[in-house]
Amino acid sequence: MGMVTDSAMVVSAHPLATAVGVSILQKGGNAVDAAVAVHWALAVVAPWAGNVGGGGLMVVRSANGTVHTLDFREIAPAAAWQDMFLDGEGRPVGRLSLLGHRAVGVPGSVAGLFAAHDSLGELPMSLLIQPAIDLAEHGFSLTALEAKELNSKLANIRAASTRPSIYTSRSFWEAGDSLRSPELARTLARIRDEGAAGFYHGLTAELIVAEMQRGGGLITLKDLAGYRPIWRSPIVGTYRDLEVITMAPPSSGGIVLIQALKALEGMNVRSTGWQKAATIHRMVEAERRAFADRAELLGDPDFVPIPAERLVSAAYMAQRMADFDATKATPSVQVHAGDPLAESEHTTHFSIVDEDGNAVSCTTTLNGSYGSGVVVGEAGFVLNNEMDDFTIATNTPNRFGLVGSAANAIAPGKRMLSSMAPTVVTRGGELFMVLGSPGGATIPTSVLQTLVNVVDHGMSAKQAVSAPRFHHQWKPDTIRVEQNAITPDDSLTLVRMGHSFKVRAPIGRVDAILVLPDGRLEAGSDPRGDDAAAGY
Ligand code: GLY
Repeated sequence: MGMVTDSAMVVSAHPLATAVGVSILQKGGNAVDAAVAVHWALAVVAPWAGNVGGGGLMVVRSANGTVHTLDFREIAPAAAWQDMFLDGEGRPVGRLSLLGHRAVGVPGSVAGLFAAHDSLGELPMSLLIQPAIDLAEHGFSLTALEAKELNSKLANIRAASTRPSIYTSRSFWEAGDSLRSPELARTLARIRDEGAAGFYHGLTAELIVAEMQRGGGLITLKDLAGYRPIWRSPIVGTYRDLEVITMAPPSSGGIVLIQALKALEGMNVRSTGWQKAATIHRMVEAERRAFADRAELLGDPDFVPIPAERLVSAAYMAQRMADFDATKATPSVQVHAGDPLAESEHTTHFSIVDEDGNAVSCTTTLNGSYGSGVVVGEAGFVLNNEMDDFTIATNTPNRFGLVGSAANAIAPGKRMLSSMAPTVVTRGGELFMVLGSPGGATIPTSVLQTLVNVVDHGMSAKQAVSAPRFHHQWKPDTIRVEQNAITPDDSLTLVRMGHSFKVRAPIGRVDAILVLPDGRLEAGSDPRGDDAAAGY
């Protein structure tokens, strides 16, 4: 069992960010205040994914049951065009959508944090951002994992950035080295003093645009001034006796998660057993169909109509699973999107519950580790490479191997399709679980397995997030598995059924909080990272 507290808990990707969140709760802040402070802190201590130059999604469930879901996803700049990453023959140009200035979407995080705080926060923003400013100004010690990650991205950052930065101030980082970022501290101080305008207007905006002009990027002052986060209606589905509240498009994560849960509802994976061939087969076939729908049907709902309600309905998923064969795999070439009318993976997630029972599930991202590799000159922060989450050409997979359609084509001002699935689960109207994960396409499948591990296989939160994972996304038609995730016997059974496997690096990094029957909170911090839980 993971750490258990009486009433409040923060689980995030970094012990220092977790400590910041807990200190805010102890000062009388609510879960949203803590979430905002954790997000600012992650921007400093987890620069591979924590951000001010990225975007994210937040699900808030207040203790009284009210739900708010906030979309602060990046958008394509006004000067973006559909074929901007293709050559004259329609072929993708190198790694243009991933590395350098053109890969950057207009950042949404700062506006998102202010929107969440303005509506739902209680403590002054200056108090929530100050710990991050102090961490940036005084420095913090890199963990072994962070030093390794930064070393692996140094060449990208040098190639993409037009100015030297703290990240490239050494040629090799070691665990325990201090990362101090006075430039980032000054950027955060401008935000503290001027609000969101301290990022979208004035000096920070000018530094972003100057960086864009030096590097051939598209973002203008007008793009920055025009960015708006959007409060959206949540996607809500049921799984057995649970209500699952998650994020609507422009994320595919919530829809994929609910579709897979609906498909599994009638299959009793408890009886087929945890990580047994029959259970994996059922889950993979559900994932295959949900990802086929994602590729064809999902995009920014402000640009393409999305029949979300129908897609997550039990009737529709029953139809989608009608050709499910318990004895053999359905090759992905035979699976197409349904017709509902007749999505290195470096994002970060944190889960928070305060002592009143308010819950926040927030996933935020630069897309790839250190995003586009572009560090804004004299502003000290990394810009995302979220443009790669668009479908840059039909049948051209993005960095997660995801293919898509016109629904997710690039257009000015459009949000790129995400897989992020921040989720809150209730039972009988009471908070049951708060969870989410980084991992690109593997986000909804990591959330799915964690939830099923708890609900169907009776695991504790810690067991559920630690258990080995597998993942299928329709194309490529291969089950990705963590090392030793499936026994040789079950693997053989699955191969005989027509499945194929590829062993890959760890899948997802789920940070969860489970409400125990006696009302106490159990943390599930993922052992795949430096993730840490704390509370009281
Ligand atoms: N950039 C990863 C996602 O939003 O799915």
